[in-house]
Amino acid sequence: MPERSFAAWLALGWTEDHPEAWLARDAAGQACGWYSLAFPERENTHLAYLSPLVGPAYRRHGIGTGLVRHAAEQARQRGRTLITAESRQGSPGEAFARALGARRGISDACRVLQLKTVPDGHLARLRSQAQAAAVGYSLMSWEGPVPGRYLVQVARLNQAMNDAPRSAEDEGQQWDVARVREDQARVAAQGLRYYTVAACCERTGELAAITQLGIEPPAPDCGFQELTVVARTHRGHRLGLLVKVAMLELLAGHEPLLERVFTGNADTNAHMIAINTELGFQLLDHWPSWELAVAEVLTWPASAQGRGGAAPEPPGARGRRAQS
Ligand SMILES: CC(C)(COP(=O)(O)OP(=O)(O)OC[C@H]1O[C@@H](n2cnc3c(N)ncnc32)[C@H](O)[C@@H]1OP(=O)(O)O)[C@@H](O)C(=O)NCCC(=O)NCCS
Repeated sequence: MPERSFAAWLALGWTEDHPEAWLARDAAGQACGWYSLAFPERENTHLAYLSPLVGPAYRRHGIGTGLVRHAAEQARQRGRTLITAESRQGSPGEAFARALGARRGISDACRVLQLKTVPDGHLARLRSQAQAAAVGYSLMSWEGPVPGRYLVQVARLNQAMNDAPRSAEDEGQQWDVARVREDQARVAAQGLRYYTVAACCERTGELAAITQLGIEPPAPDCGFQELTVVARTHRGHRLGLLVKVAMLELLAGHEPLLERVFTGNADTNAHMIAINTELGFQLLDHWPSWELAVAEVLTWPASAQGRGGAAPEPPGARGRRAQS
């Protein structure tokens, strides 16, 4: 992530919940690990979302375990009972999560579309297939913040994301206009060029489908898919495919340096994955989620915080609250 995007994510997170960030330093004051911890407020008030990271030179000395223990104490103080995190399948993160006894939850798959591999005429073919099924809908698009007249409808479409597969522990998000505005504040703080394509039901004037994508100006070769959703009563008209094809066509005109688009979906989200596969997205990797009960972590013996004669102090001893 470019620095501006990273800093805004650190302060604002992905779920409009203003995470905390804690830094662990070694005896010389050198940063050796850190974590971000978010406490969702609108829903899932039993959860804490954790992203721990230990610098490569400091791994396998118990610092990661110490970070999780420290995070569990913060979670306990906030009344949270379950910590969740994600790691790439087959990575040290997965080995670490398993070693700590975390339970595997739902898994996401990350896919990439290399634009130069899309055959000539492919998008036009998909667009006409989709349009044939989407009679009575028209497309619109905008760049930047959601126009005020659509805020309520965009909140409603975000709410419809709760129909996508999610873990049994996840209650789904609660969206209103204020939350859409917070999400936009994150996009603005990250400095993204941000595009939206929506399909409108001509009969009712309602927004029926939406797709959103962000580009970080320092890295204009990569686009990052955000929300794509079709409202329940409008499903079955190929609107998901239509808005995504229209987005790629829009980007071809506005983002000449764009080479690839990344997206992530739950492994079990068959409908969305089918659309992405039709577009030409290729599987990159899987990202399982992990769950650890706070109470369980707090029973770990203190020795689990550092081993092999290189035991760091618990991060709390040196931890610095960067954001709260
Ligand atoms: C995952 C990560 C935080 C672990 O940090 P760490 O300080 O090395 O973790 P610990 O030393 O506390 O490891 C505890 C146990 O996890 C297991 N483990 C950790 N890394 C492992 C690896 N690369 N291979 C196999 N097992 C591993 C081991 O059982 C280890 O105990 P051991 O060293 O006595 O065998 C670090 O590798 C990292 O920052 N990775 C990238 C970000 C990430 O994946 N975060 C985790 C998201 S769940």
